[in-house]
Amino acid sequence: MNQKQAKELVRSRLSDKRYEHTLNVKKMAVRLAKRYGVDEDKAALAALLHDSAKEISKDEMRELMRQYPQYAEGGEERPASVWHGICAAILARTQWGVEDEAILSAIACHTAGRAGMSKLDKVVYLADMTSKERDWPGVGKLRKLEMKDLDAAMLAALKQTNDFVLSQGKPLDPQSAAAYEDILAHQKKEC
Ligand SMILES: [Fe+2]
Ligand SMILES: [Fe+2]
Repeated sequence: MNQKQAKELVRSRLSDKRYEHTLNVKKMAVRLAKRYGVDEDKAALAALLHDSAKEISKDEMRELMRQYPQYAEGGEERPASVWHGICAAILARTQWGVEDEAILSAIACHTAGRAGMSKLDKVVYLADMTSKERDWPGVGKLRKLEMKDLDAAMLAALKQTNDFVLSQGKPLDPQSAAAYEDILAHQKKEC
C-alpha cells in the first residue's frame, strides 16, 4: 500500500475531524522523521494508518483481536483505549497488504508505547501527540523538545499521558509504564 492508497482508505473510514488529525499527524511524523534520519515514507504510511480503526465498534475490535490472537498483543486484557492501534495494525497486515514490521509496530503502539520502541515508533507516537490541531496545555513545550531530543520528548510525553490516565482513576497500560522505564534506563546508561 502506498501513501495515496492509504490516504484514500482512511478518508473513507474516518470523520472529517479525524481525517484532518490524521493528515496533521502525517505532516508532523515526516518532519520528525527528517530530523532523526527515519525513513520518511514509512513514517508517513504509519501516520496515515495509525487511527484507521478508531471508528469501528468495540465489538468489531474484539472480534478482530480474537481472530488474530498472534497479532493482538494481549489486546483484550489491556485498556480499550489501546485497541484501535492494535486493530489498525491487524487490518493493515491482514487486509491492506502492509508487510513492513516497522510500520506495523509504529501503528500498533501509537497510543501506549512499548518497551524497546524504535525511532519510527517514537516519531509516530510523538507526532500523534503534537499534531497541528492539538492544544493541550504543554503541547508547545513538547513540540520544541521533540525537535531537540527524541528520547527526552518521549519521556515527557509518556509521563504526561501516564499521569493523565492515573489522574482519571483509569488503569495504566503496562506497556506504557514499560516504555517509560525502558527509555529512562537507556538514558541513565548513556550518562
Ligand atoms: Fe490513536
Ligand atoms: Fe491519533
